[in-house]
Amino acid sequence: MRDKFTNKPDIIFLMTYDREKYLQAVKAQLEPNIFKHSLALEACMNGIYDYLQSQGQLGQNEPPKEDWLLAGLIHDIDFGGEFKEFHPGKTKEALAKYNLEISDTIHKIVLAHDARQTHIKKEWKAQWAIFCADSLTGLIIAVALIYPSKKLSDVKLSSVLKRFLKQPKFAAGTRREEVTMCSRPEGLNIPLEKFIEICLTSMQKIATEIGL
Ligand SMILES: [Fe+2]
Repeated sequence: MRDKFTNKPDIIFLMTYDREKYLQAVKAQLEPNIFKHSLALEACMNGIYDYLQSQGQLGQNEPPKEDWLLAGLIHDIDFGGEFKEFHPGKTKEALAKYNLEISDTIHKIVLAHDARQTHIKKEWKAQWAIFCADSLTGLIIAVALIYPSKKLSDVKLSSVLKRFLKQPKFAAGTRREEVTMCSRPEGLNIPLEKFIEICLTSMQKIATEIGL
């Protein structure tokens, strides 16, 4: 499909990978809750990218949006089955099991989600995004589950903020110090409250996909 004004191919239709194939691989390799987390992080990467782009905050060397999204979707693919004990060191091997590959750029984004272990230097906002948002998805899902409806659409930002800021034992696996780094000027430069709002609304858009 082409842009009707410039007659250039529309970028949406220029995705260089088949998302469905990666989606099926992630689904096959991971436990259902990790699979849902993978979809949630993909959605967060989408929302963070769009926000930064709207603010004119993405530099020339930033990887394209499709790299952000695919990294979010497959970042934990080696966190299941025979690869689990080697996570996050077997991403490419886990993908190869399904005859899939990723670029070195996407691999560098993936490795940044677990920078505590990989010690990778974060050179793009994509790497900060995956690093800061990874564990936040779990807290947002945990907040949804305490609502009587258990629906993400019912979750209020204030409710997430309260549990993030004032209840450190709530969803204790959330790496709050990493999420909070979203406000670092050398990283995403997004205030914490805004960052949590972006991730919450991004996840709400795919609520039915993750069964919430
Ligand atoms: Fe993850």
